[in-house]
Amino acid sequence: MYRTHNCGELRLPDAGKTVTLAGWVQSRRDFGGLTFIDLRDRYGITQLVFSMDEDRALCERARKLGREFVIQATGLVRERSNKNPDRPTGDIEIDVRQLEVLNASKVPPFTIEEQTDGGDELRMQYRYLDLRRPSLQHNIQFRSRLALESRKYLAEQGFLEIETPYLIKSTPEGARDFVVPSRMNPGQFYALPQSPQTFKQILMVAGMDKYFQIVRCFRDEDLRADRQPEFTQIDCEMAFVHQEDILHTFEGLIKHLFKQVLGVRLEDFPRMRYDDAIRRYGSDKPDLRFDMAFEELDDLVKGKGFSVFDEAGLVVGLCLKARAGQMSNKDFKQLTEWVKRPQIGAKGLVYVKFNEDGSIKSTVGKFYDDEALRTWGERFGAGPGDVLFILSGEAEQVRTQLGALRLELARRYDLIPDNVFKPLWVVDFPLLEWDEETGRFHAMHHPFTAPKKEDIHKMESTDRSVLASIRADAYDLVLNGAEIGGGSIRIHDRSLQARNFQLLGFSDEEARRQFGFLMGAFEYGAPPHGGIAFGFDRLVAVMSGSSSIRDFIAFPKNNQGRDMMIDAPAPISAEQLDELGIRIVTPDDSSGR
Ligand code: AMO
Repeated sequence: MYRTHNCGELRLPDAGKTVTLAGWVQSRRDFGGLTFIDLRDRYGITQLVFSMDEDRALCERARKLGREFVIQATGLVRERSNKNPDRPTGDIEIDVRQLEVLNASKVPPFTIEEQTDGGDELRMQYRYLDLRRPSLQHNIQFRSRLALESRKYLAEQGFLEIETPYLIKSTPEGARDFVVPSRMNPGQFYALPQSPQTFKQILMVAGMDKYFQIVRCFRDEDLRADRQPEFTQIDCEMAFVHQEDILHTFEGLIKHLFKQVLGVRLEDFPRMRYDDAIRRYGSDKPDLRFDMAFEELDDLVKGKGFSVFDEAGLVVGLCLKARAGQMSNKDFKQLTEWVKRPQIGAKGLVYVKFNEDGSIKSTVGKFYDDEALRTWGERFGAGPGDVLFILSGEAEQVRTQLGALRLELARRYDLIPDNVFKPLWVVDFPLLEWDEETGRFHAMHHPFTAPKKEDIHKMESTDRSVLASIRADAYDLVLNGAEIGGGSIRIHDRSLQARNFQLLGFSDEEARRQFGFLMGAFEYGAPPHGGIAFGFDRLVAVMSGSSSIRDFIAFPKNNQGRDMMIDAPAPISAEQLDELGIRIVTPDDSSGR
């Protein structure tokens, strides 16, 4: 037996017991005739003590142990004289009588402590060492508990867990596919699924009624803190449901997870229409942990001789409460520079500062008197100490810019409370999104999303603005400003699906080639159905108070999409290429083309 207990479980009442522990040497301290070792495993840290007086040979062996050696120690549990209140096992120590070195370790390239000295790349290369650090241990355990609780809830609701294939044909979800060559079908490729979308719909046609899967998805897109090329979804689909049934079922899932795993009871989730989210927050994923909703000012500001506002498509602002006192000219200058950066792209920033003493300072004081500025303030309920920030320009752009400024102000002025969770359903997304570059419509969610019943008649229109106004039965779950999940009611009628493909610019032939199997399935009694998929990595991260998902994935990729530990992607051998019938053509060798 390697161990009788783990390194996190012994307490004072265990004193007097003979125990055997096994784990990694976290640290060693030699003091006169005593040697202390902190022994670590997944469960915690327990102090081992060796004494020269008691067993000189044993103590000398202990003094040779390096960091991260794997050892087994047997000894007596005893009360510590200098207790460590920060550690659950801090009241006891093990007076060691037997020591076995199970494995030596090289000196690790960085310290395996919470505050490590290792840089990002190094820690990714030695991910197995990084994963030994307490916060990553915690994250991976937290993730596992969320996965198990998700399964429990969904099983109780009658969902079946069904696997769908990874080697498939491309599903269009807006990103590029990762492709896999087929040896047995030279020149042909599988695509790794961007999601199991079409399969889960076919499972509904197959009568499975309620499906879920905690499933890996693959998308070849530019990486960010909240994106990985392979990530995990809790993917779900239900038959014979309306949008309301889905929102109810999955609000239940999220509430269950918060309650079981965090002990947090969430109130019913508010809902916001997509149009309102954009109008009020400049984002389809507003962070509701702080306020600063937008107000439009066109009616108040136009026609007073300030041409920037007069010529703008939209003049819109927000109010930062109670910060006027701490904002200097330099702060305003910095914020103006910030909104003018190319990533944001605003032309300038107008502010109105309502000083505590009742005076008003504004960049546009030349054009508007105090009384006018006060009426602007009234629109926001602003008073002394508050500051208005106003942007103007083309409506869509200016809302996005102000949305970015809203987040930046919240960060700079520390307006985001800790340990607060603000979920929100965003509903009534547009069905179609015009893409200037390609000059055609894209599906805002995906091509299988159903239009709202009352908007179906607009599908026959040829007018771009009418088509752009079609709303879909599509919804996103937003949590603390992160898009955690998204789904829709699906089209289950073959002819409506065919019309949607047409609007998306697929020829009949293309639609048949790409989705013939789905259209075919729809000819054999497809039930009304709909579903949702949650970004599991994001959910785990946001529930842990983080916006970066990398620390919640055991083996993530870096920003270049590389796995630093196994060094992938990597070239394959000439034999493998031959077998696959693939010829690599480099830019200076175009002979293979
Ligand atoms: P969607 O494309 O919105 O919907 O994806 C669902 C959720 O998956 C998460 N997500 C990601 N997480 C990490 N890295 C990525 N690269 C990444 N891309 C997406 C997000 C997102 O909300 N088939 C549909 C769902 C449906 O209609 O049922 C789908 O995949 O949290």
